[in-house]
Amino acid sequence: MDIDRLRERLAEAGQSHLLQFWKELSPEEQTEMSQDLEGMDFKEISGFFKSAMETSSQAKQEKVDSRMEPVPREVLGSVTRDRESLKDWEKEGLRCISQNKVAVLLLAGGQGTRLGVSYPKGMYDVGLPSHKTLFQIQAEHILKLQQLAELQHNTKCCIPWYIMTSGRTMEATKEFFSKHNYFGLSQNDVIIFQQGMLPAMDYSGKIILESKGKLSMAPDGNGGLYRALGTQNTIKDMEGRGVSCIHVYCVDNILVKVADPAFIGFCALKGADCGAKVVEKTNPTEAVGVVCKVDGRYQVVEYSEITLATAERRSSDGRLMFNAGNVANHFFSLSFLRDIVNTYEPQLQHHVAQKKIPYVDTQGQLIKPDKPNGIKMEKFVFDIFQFAKKFAVYEVLREDEFSPLKNADSQDGKDNPTTARHALMSLHHRWVLNAGGHFIDENGTRVPAIPRHGPAGSVSPGVTQNLKDGTELPIKCEISPLVSYGGEGLEELVKGVEFRPTLVIDKDGLHQLVKNGL
Ligand code: UD1
Repeated sequence: MDIDRLRERLAEAGQSHLLQFWKELSPEEQTEMSQDLEGMDFKEISGFFKSAMETSSQAKQEKVDSRMEPVPREVLGSVTRDRESLKDWEKEGLRCISQNKVAVLLLAGGQGTRLGVSYPKGMYDVGLPSHKTLFQIQAEHILKLQQLAELQHNTKCCIPWYIMTSGRTMEATKEFFSKHNYFGLSQNDVIIFQQGMLPAMDYSGKIILESKGKLSMAPDGNGGLYRALGTQNTIKDMEGRGVSCIHVYCVDNILVKVADPAFIGFCALKGADCGAKVVEKTNPTEAVGVVCKVDGRYQVVEYSEITLATAERRSSDGRLMFNAGNVANHFFSLSFLRDIVNTYEPQLQHHVAQKKIPYVDTQGQLIKPDKPNGIKMEKFVFDIFQFAKKFAVYEVLREDEFSPLKNADSQDGKDNPTTARHALMSLHHRWVLNAGGHFIDENGTRVPAIPRHGPAGSVSPGVTQNLKDGTELPIKCEISPLVSYGGEGLEELVKGVEFRPTLVIDKDGLHQLVKNGL
């Protein structure tokens, strides 16, 4: 280790403070710290800092409102408004899958800070009857879809699963998959790779020390994907397998339809290079980004980037004008991704997130600030929409496909383990009803089938009212993805049968079912 050379490099970069406690470190800590520092490109990091701060102060000054246009109807496909095309889209998606052209890519490098867990979010158990984790639910969707495509096309096929992790989640994710035998998937087809990390910085561009011998580092955002696809040879792996389209999604949505054939088929038939799945945003202040056009290019605009007046604007049909809520499910053609990695990635700007970042002060004291004291820099996965030549937007029903797990449980909270668990059980309840099954309560009375689309603010579909204390309780019903991918194939199991919750249907059959009169 050449400490003098390192000192020089740090001085040139204006980061000499990083070695302030060098003499107090143990030899092991010194080795670790010098390795971390030697691997860093300070010039690049300082360039990222400058342009991120510039872009962020520009964005604060000018809202994008006047430059925004809603998604035009011709690029939009909707599961409700284009019902007659759904079967064709699904058929095309399954055809692509059967030809080994489809891969899925999971973004799982986040730190789960809001959820408050120290392990990767995909390992979270929201308390379903089966206690399956998010990773297992997703793996089983892949297994089932391979089976469906094989049955329809009479050929063996594989959907490779690329999982992007970060320095924070890589080892735990790998161990978890190995411990669970890849949930029945082939180890070769689960490709776990790692995104980059960037240091947290104070407002003057100085890297923050998390302890005397350690820099404060964070993953470089889910848009770190594009750099990682190149540096980790992931694109090459996809090419080698003959993949031509990729479904990219976030780990936290319990209802995610992994490799959704209808979405893939819709985008493929449109000839799209880039696509986004959306749900209708009904509340102007809901904290989801909206897909729209800005200066003629597709983009996701976060709620904080527009005025309330724009968020509240309505079209003549009464819906919000900017209502294409981003559910972080994207379609990319491989050639588009290749162009991004080879050409456009360096043009993507980092976004600035102001954070309360624990740090060691000049006296060597660990300080936990109570207001933001610095920034983390992140790229976003949807920042490449602007480069799309043919963009497609696919609108799905929120109650069928979107229930993200962001926060820990709290009294009146949203997007937490309870809402995720309820959303999944309520969806599966509706599948049973649609397939001709029924539920009865403890008195043997049929639980009324609740309409599929209630008006905004009504009781969620599939949820029964607990009249004693007024709280809502869903029917406890869980169907393994190994049995049904999206509600199909349940008639022979449930038609004309009355069930008393809890009902679990897994690959070994029905459990805890109570037939009427038995
Ligand atoms: C994200 C979307 C937002 C959308 C919402 C829906 C982005 C940037 N924003 O917001 O538009 O309305 O989901 O739920 O996509 N991740 C990484 N590496 C990182 C950071 C995050 O892989 O460095 C992964 C996370 O593990 C997670 C996903 O990206 O799977 C989303 O990250 P999160 O920070 O939760 O995004 P949101 O702010 O919730």
